[in-house]
Amino acid sequence: MLHAYIKGIGHYVPENVITNHDLEKKMDTSDEWIQERTGIQERRVVTRLKETTTTMGARAAERAIDDAGIDKEEIDFIIFATLSPDYYFPGCGVLVQRMLGIAEGECAALDIRNQCSGFVYGLSIAEQFIKTGMYKNILLIGSETHSMGLDYTTRGRDISVLFGDGAGAVVLQPSPDEKSKILSTHLHSDGRFAEKLAFISPGCHAGYYDEDKEKYGFSDDPYDPVFLTEKMLDDHMTFPKMEGQYVFKFAVTKFPEVIQEALDKNGFQASDIDLLIPHQANLRISQFVQRKLGLRDDQVFNNIQKYGNTTAASIPIALSEAYQEGKLKRGDLICLAAFGSGFTWGSALLNW
Ligand code: ACO
Repeated sequence: MLHAYIKGIGHYVPENVITNHDLEKKMDTSDEWIQERTGIQERRVVTRLKETTTTMGARAAERAIDDAGIDKEEIDFIIFATLSPDYYFPGCGVLVQRMLGIAEGECAALDIRNQCSGFVYGLSIAEQFIKTGMYKNILLIGSETHSMGLDYTTRGRDISVLFGDGAGAVVLQPSPDEKSKILSTHLHSDGRFAEKLAFISPGCHAGYYDEDKEKYGFSDDPYDPVFLTEKMLDDHMTFPKMEGQYVFKFAVTKFPEVIQEALDKNGFQASDIDLLIPHQANLRISQFVQRKLGLRDDQVFNNIQKYGNTTAASIPIALSEAYQEGKLKRGDLICLAAFGSGFTWGSALLNW
């Protein structure tokens, strides 16, 4: 039976650093509050007018393609995970294909919208296509430009201090042998909590989900565009919102559960994991998961201190850094796990 493995990996983060102290000058917050609650010290942000989610994804992709030792023309499928696309449509998959000049017309491109779980969902999709023999070189990218859509005033401080920009990418191929392969992927979702962490407006919801229809300033004129109203802008609705503590409680339950599911499926115990790379949502969440599974510090990789939460990019950036630091050896048991908006969550267990 065919298995998939990660043949090449790379990441790109913009050079501009915003520290917690920089944020103190923009809003009522403190380095102490941010570090104590999240572990974050600084994050990267794009250079305006020069970088986007697609350009960062393309840079990470070039590095992954180079690391895989293939020609970009050999890519037959692109999967792009992001919640901060350049355009509402079309997606970043086709934009990155154009930017890299990859096999126009010969290569397919798919965008997925699974927020913090985007990379794990993308990995699972790629794995299935490789297992069936449909594709041989899949480029999977996670990239985010949060900085262009956050409220960097005190009003938005509960969210804006958490997020950063960046991109990571991998090239997946059929495994050459039994030593390196994806063992299994596990995906879950629960739409009952969709609005607990969401970016609702602009959008085509037309007030459907709200009791308070007046809130958005919609008229009942069927020819009136309701995607973006002046009231949405005036009332500062065009930003993500989150019930932080609610998300936190769910995350610390679902992370260990979905990791254990992957271990059970393959007959392993937590102590067998060589490296766990959790989605970098909050250092406190990672530490809680580590304690719950009884893992040593050297079994868990964290880099949220430098980048904040880069959502779909966080796992591939962390994986790529771990690789560059020599922390991934061929055959090692690696676990990836994510939880985020939706709620969606998932894990992947692989032999590197
Ligand atoms: N600086 C200073 N004070 C702040 C800030 C800030 N940046 N943000 C909020 N506060 C204040 C609040 O207003 C509140 O003040 P009050 O007590 O006077 O009302 C106080 O700090 C405590 O706020 P909480 O929200 O209760 O703080 P909490 O300890 O829960 O930490 C945090 C907030 C860090 C967001 C945490 O809840 C968390 O990490 N949640 C999970 C986030 C997550 O995992 N998201 C999923 C992935 S993201 C994705 O999928 C896109």
